[in-house]
Amino acid sequence: MQQASAESIFKEFKEHSISEFFRKNSQMLGYSGKVRSLTTIVHEYVTNSLDACEEAGILPEISVSITEISENKYLITVSDNGPGIPSKLVGKAMATILAGTKFHRYLQQRGQQGIGAAGCTMYSLITTGKPIHVKSSTGKEGYECDISIDIKTNKPIMSNLEKRTEISSGTVIEGTFGDIKYEESDHGVYEYLKRTALSNPHTSIKLTSPDGKDYVFIRSVNEMPKRPKEIKPHPLGIGTNDLIDFAHKSESKKLSSFLVDTFSRVTPGKVTELKEFAKNIDFEKNPADLTWEEAEILVKSFKEIKWVAPEMDAMSTIGDKQIETAIKNILNPTFVSVVERKPRVFKGGIPFVVEAGIAYGGDAGKKTSAIKVDDEKVQNVEGSILRFANKVPMLFDASSCAITEAAKSIQWKRYGITNFDEEPVSVMVNISSVYVPYSGVGKQAVAQEDEIVEEIKLALMDCGRTLQRYISGVKNKKEQESRYKTIMRYVDQLSSDLAEITGNESEDIKHGLISIIENRYKELFTEQTDLA
Ligand SMILES: Nc1ncnc2c1ncn2[C@@H]1O[C@H](COP(=O)(O)OP(=O)(O)O)[C@@H](O)[C@H]1O
Ligand SMILES: [Mg+2]
Repeated sequence: MQQASAESIFKEFKEHSISEFFRKNSQMLGYSGKVRSLTTIVHEYVTNSLDACEEAGILPEISVSITEISENKYLITVSDNGPGIPSKLVGKAMATILAGTKFHRYLQQRGQQGIGAAGCTMYSLITTGKPIHVKSSTGKEGYECDISIDIKTNKPIMSNLEKRTEISSGTVIEGTFGDIKYEESDHGVYEYLKRTALSNPHTSIKLTSPDGKDYVFIRSVNEMPKRPKEIKPHPLGIGTNDLIDFAHKSESKKLSSFLVDTFSRVTPGKVTELKEFAKNIDFEKNPADLTWEEAEILVKSFKEIKWVAPEMDAMSTIGDKQIETAIKNILNPTFVSVVERKPRVFKGGIPFVVEAGIAYGGDAGKKTSAIKVDDEKVQNVEGSILRFANKVPMLFDASSCAITEAAKSIQWKRYGITNFDEEPVSVMVNISSVYVPYSGVGKQAVAQEDEIVEEIKLALMDCGRTLQRYISGVKNKKEQESRYKTIMRYVDQLSSDLAEITGNESEDIKHGLISIIENRYKELFTEQTDLA
């Protein structure tokens, strides 16, 4: 074999940008399969609109329009009534991967990494060669422009910037995208937006589909959800590298005050306790000089101490009343049961909350359509499990998700559901956390952390018990009704026979019999009947 020298091999040594990495690995961002890619684009823009409106305290009005240009090529427009994007930053917001207002904050939002919008710009570029077009107004300035991404440098390329005074506050993004496909399936945009409306009942969403049809998911709650508070990280939720990072950026003069200032639940008293476990560390030193070894010792010591649980007001749930209203609005079921569990922690220090609901009857359990999606086999059971994380629907990678795992492990027969596939039942679960442990970059499944799976099970079992009571009530009622009907069938014959024997008026006997029977089955008439 011919040998190559290090020199000749290392001629090929090159550095690459993060954009280049994601161009080669676009499946990591959710760009795999034509249907999924389209849903990903809509998801990225819509979650950004929701986040922006939430932060600005605006009830969101979002429109999504999809027009077919040619086979597998569409024009997508997403508009919102949000706060707008300053023109100075719009380039970076739309075309620099890992740039945004969210990554660096301990705040529950839908977006986290600053990848979504730039990912879309890149996908438009690599499938059509075109820039995206943005119109936006912050109320102070209005403008429109084209934005593309320089993949080599991960920098925006802005062109045709024009001031606009007539644009009303908010943002409109238009892009042409190739290698995508609109389909009405469980993985499609319609289903995605329907579920977004379910988990964001304060939002009004309009979809114009490629065949020109308009669908509107009306706002069912006129109140903004409770704003999540930005919190400090809890000492149990951080690793050595995080600690070093915080320490080296800190403006505190001493390690002790740095710990108190930076982390939640660290008080001077707790620092004294820490000193017991980290005897060799000088708590008077400048945090900028904290070494890796010292940070390791501190992280270990954190685990030795009893902490007050993390603050919970960083989490923004949907709310049980809101879920109930939204489910009734969208699935029109005959029965719904919702629970919001108390906050819990996973990995020792990261708080999360589970909300769950079960809907029965009406449109519950109905699939958008039976179409099979490109590459992923749709399993019915999974189609009836509506999964959400931080109020964002997850439509893909169902089988690896903690929610699917928990829902499937439940013995539904106990709760009156003999066949999950066939019966009109939908289950929804939303997990809220500042740090949702997604099992992939595409954020379509939640990792199966023990504490999370357990919480979901408990939540579903809770809803299940109420469902069971309802179903057995319905069954009982159905039996009663069928007995009532059977008996009523004999009334005519019986009263005329009795009239013959007794010589009394057949009509009188009939009235008497009917009133006895109706009295016996009076529950059938007094309670509201919701039998299908
Ligand atoms: N519709 C919008 N309205 C206001 N700001 C937006 C909008 N869309 C995107 N942004 C800004 O662009 C940034 C980058 O968005 P994105 O790449 O999706 O990352 P992320 O949502 O994870 O922060 C956001 O953090 C936000 O500051
Ligand atoms: Mg985003």
